[in-house]
Amino acid sequence: MKEQPPQQPASPPSPDERDRRVLELYERVVEIEQRLIPTGLHVFGRAADAGECADLLRMVASFERPEHGARALPDLVAEGLGLGDFQSLLGGRDEETWRARERVDAVVRRAVAAFLGEGTEGACRLLAAEARVDAAESEKIFRLLAQVRVHLETSRELDGLAKALRGEYVEPGPGADVVQNPGVLPTGRNTHAVNPYAVPSRTAFARAEGVVRLLLERHRSERGRWPRAMALVLWGLDNIKTQGEGVAQALWLLGVRPVRDSLNRVTDVEPLPLERLGRPRIDVVMTVSGIFRDLFAPTMALLDRAVRRVAELDEPDESNGVRRNVREQMEADGCAFDEAAPRVFSNAPGSYGTNVNFMVMDSQWEQAEALGDLFVTRKCFAYGRDREGRAVEGREARGAFVRALSRVEAAYQNIDSFEIGITDVDHYFEYLGGVSRAVERHAEARPALYLSDATTREARVRSLAEMVRLETRAKTLNPKWYEGMLSHGFRGVAEIESHLTNTFGWSATADAVDEWVYREVAETFVLDREMIERLSRLNPHSARALVARLLEAQGRGFWRAEAEVLDRLRDIFAGLEDRIEGVT
Ligand code: BEZ
Ligand code: MG
Repeated sequence: MKEQPPQQPASPPSPDERDRRVLELYERVVEIEQRLIPTGLHVFGRAADAGECADLLRMVASFERPEHGARALPDLVAEGLGLGDFQSLLGGRDEETWRARERVDAVVRRAVAAFLGEGTEGACRLLAAEARVDAAESEKIFRLLAQVRVHLETSRELDGLAKALRGEYVEPGPGADVVQNPGVLPTGRNTHAVNPYAVPSRTAFARAEGVVRLLLERHRSERGRWPRAMALVLWGLDNIKTQGEGVAQALWLLGVRPVRDSLNRVTDVEPLPLERLGRPRIDVVMTVSGIFRDLFAPTMALLDRAVRRVAELDEPDESNGVRRNVREQMEADGCAFDEAAPRVFSNAPGSYGTNVNFMVMDSQWEQAEALGDLFVTRKCFAYGRDREGRAVEGREARGAFVRALSRVEAAYQNIDSFEIGITDVDHYFEYLGGVSRAVERHAEARPALYLSDATTREARVRSLAEMVRLETRAKTLNPKWYEGMLSHGFRGVAEIESHLTNTFGWSATADAVDEWVYREVAETFVLDREMIERLSRLNPHSARALVARLLEAQGRGFWRAEAEVLDRLRDIFAGLEDRIEGVT
């Protein structure tokens, strides 16, 4: 038997180390505190309340709005306070920078409150007095906020619905996230999608560069090298809302830029010089939703063309992962270029989704491999054009998909809206989790999993485990969130249960959930007598499903509950069964 070294008492950290740890902790707490969360469900036809209105207006004001000639409010405030460029404050990780950011945030908060209380003049006065912001500058942003506010405070949704039911004309409006494009207001209009030839927009391409840099830097700092290949999840609605940030990220990874034709349509790509990239081109396997496939056919063709163009560049292996991987596969399998080059995969034509979510939610799996296999079966259809220019539209290509996945070392997805995060719906785990299990099945190691969000100015890349922790703290376990949900009664309990199930989905597909998450969910919603009574009264079915999921998570080894806790959970489950079946 191996001898255990004697336990050394941990020496106290140096003052510098202690300060660093405190700052890191502080940073995490602020991150949770500042995360914008929906505090309740949207009630069709009901306008935003005052609190929501203030939060949304602050978010809208935090971005530059060149189309309205308005600068971002935090930028104006930071400059007025003599703190310099706000963007560079976002990157800083020292105490002084944090304090500077807090000062800016506090003034912005007061300015938006003054705007809501006293209107534009009051807000401009406050900004001039507190941060020496020129009223002519701040007026521009408040003019935009005034429009947004009017739309937020009125709702035409019921009118729109009634018109649609009468077969009357419903005014069109763009589909996007309100923070990214306030032009989506007023709601209740007929959402029109996007012109796929406009994707990616110039803004999306510019924003994607920084995110891809952070993503690759993060991977390199954790794993010591560039990923041999990456898997990317692309969704339709996401790329509508961001005007193609996900698409742009794929192009940046490959190291190409979009090229517009004489009609200003994005129809081609051009490789960026390696010196411009300052890193190798990364091989990307794109797993594309059925909605994306239906909406973005020209974009699918563009992505396939980009991969093939890069694979054919005359560059050294260490600078061009696509070329190296395609060539190695052709040599090893004795196959043609067209068999080794597909990287754009989706469902068979007319089919949608991975079904991994249903398998997880219905507890229809024993081994994790089954989830990866299902993902491959559903998503192994290749799209693009072969070397002869013939369209390949959903040809089954399981072998090519599995080979491409076998080289993947990191998988990634972009989040497009603060309203829907990775534990709000089952689709994030079915896609990102599904592809992770598929890679695990065919590659040598489990891939690193990353997410970024396009919802704030400060582009951040987080690991999946970090994101699960953040969502758990900011939503599931946050009284502000769950009380907001419970104010909806029956449906609110269903939302809480569904958050737990979606979190469970991340254990099932990626082992990315810490045990404390299950423990604290149990303590908050089930072991607290008053709370479980409330949930059971409002919606006994969801309450029972919640307890059952906690027990399933325990049974599958996702957390270890003490015997006493387990007994109580079982008793409560049995009590709910009796209650539902009418036994007293
Ligand atoms: C999409 O927009 O492509 C999408 C939406 C919901 C679930 C999966 C994909
Ligand atoms: Mg759904």
